[in-house]
Amino acid sequence: METCLLPANAEGVRRAAELLRAGEVVGIPTETVYGLAANAWDEEAVRRIFVAKGRPQDNPLIVHIADREMLYEVAARVPEQALALADAFWPGPLTIILPRGPKVADAVCAGLDTVGIRMPSHPAAQAVIRASGLPLAAPSANRSGAPSPTDAKTVWEDMQGRLPLILDGGECQVGVESTVVSLAGDVPMVLRPGYVTPEQMSQVLGCPVQVAGAVTRQLQAGETVRSPGMKYKHYAPKAEVTIVRGDRDTFARYVAAHPAEGLFCLCFAGDEAVLEVPCVHYGTEQDPAAQAHDLFSALRRLDELGAKTVYARCPEMEGVGLAVYNRLLRAAAFRVVEP
Ligand code: TXA
Ligand code: MG
Repeated sequence: METCLLPANAEGVRRAAELLRAGEVVGIPTETVYGLAANAWDEEAVRRIFVAKGRPQDNPLIVHIADREMLYEVAARVPEQALALADAFWPGPLTIILPRGPKVADAVCAGLDTVGIRMPSHPAAQAVIRASGLPLAAPSANRSGAPSPTDAKTVWEDMQGRLPLILDGGECQVGVESTVVSLAGDVPMVLRPGYVTPEQMSQVLGCPVQVAGAVTRQLQAGETVRSPGMKYKHYAPKAEVTIVRGDRDTFARYVAAHPAEGLFCLCFAGDEAVLEVPCVHYGTEQDPAAQAHDLFSALRRLDELGAKTVYARCPEMEGVGLAVYNRLLRAAAFRVVEP
């Protein structure tokens, strides 16, 4: 299949909507990461996403909507708490898990009776949803297991030949995937951290918001899998990544004491002054939003440079930093050292 890369202008949006209505998969920009979109009502179309991505069938997809009417079509019920979160954070990088409406294709929910819903803020994503008139199921637009793409060129590299169209809407602002919050249990629970933090949601809801244990550690044998995405290998570059906790000097001492073949550091801007190996930056030490913005492109850059071993500075594990840590931890296959 020939893959077309078009700017996300009126013509690109029109073409995307046409293909989506015909049951095809289209690569679209969102404010978090690029997505592989298909008609969420259409079983066949959604299956094409799984094929294009090489995604395990039991990992459900997020449905992207453009207005409240679509919310009531996709969800079977919309509790007060969901409306409060939607008012506060939509359109934006928050996915809310709700009871699944009957029209949603089975493949979207992978057998669960819930569905993840989000209203993206990227104007091109909104335009494509509106122009197609469809809610769009869309996972991140990477081949399964690779870091999520934050620009159209990366989607092209991963997906060329596997779908008819990718829309180029520039670089993603946020850089890590949406926060996933479940309202299915007794207490709201974050299943995947993102740009919208548990603290912010707790303030809006006026109640505690829990964070699932598997956000900051490996799933344990027999533990309930609340979000199937937690089970799988993720964001993995080719190099073996190890997170090194501690401040800049501790990090520099660890790096000096542990030489390795093809060694690179994944560090914060400015750290290179104390390091004697090649470095790739992700943001600055004080700015977790900048770390989130840069992380996936930095992981891909390390692959391009042929890194074999990577020592990574550890982000703060709170606020947006929790999302950064969660992704980096998976990229590192849970290897963390505390010198
Ligand atoms: O920012 C994002 O959310 C991006 C863009 C494209 O919108 N999408 C994205 O989709 O990250 P994906 O498929 O890569 O990640 C969806 C995550 C997975 O970890 C999945 O297990 C979880 O959300 N998820 C989806 N539906 C769920 C459900 N009903 N219950 C629990 N977890 C769910
Ligand atoms: Mg993904």
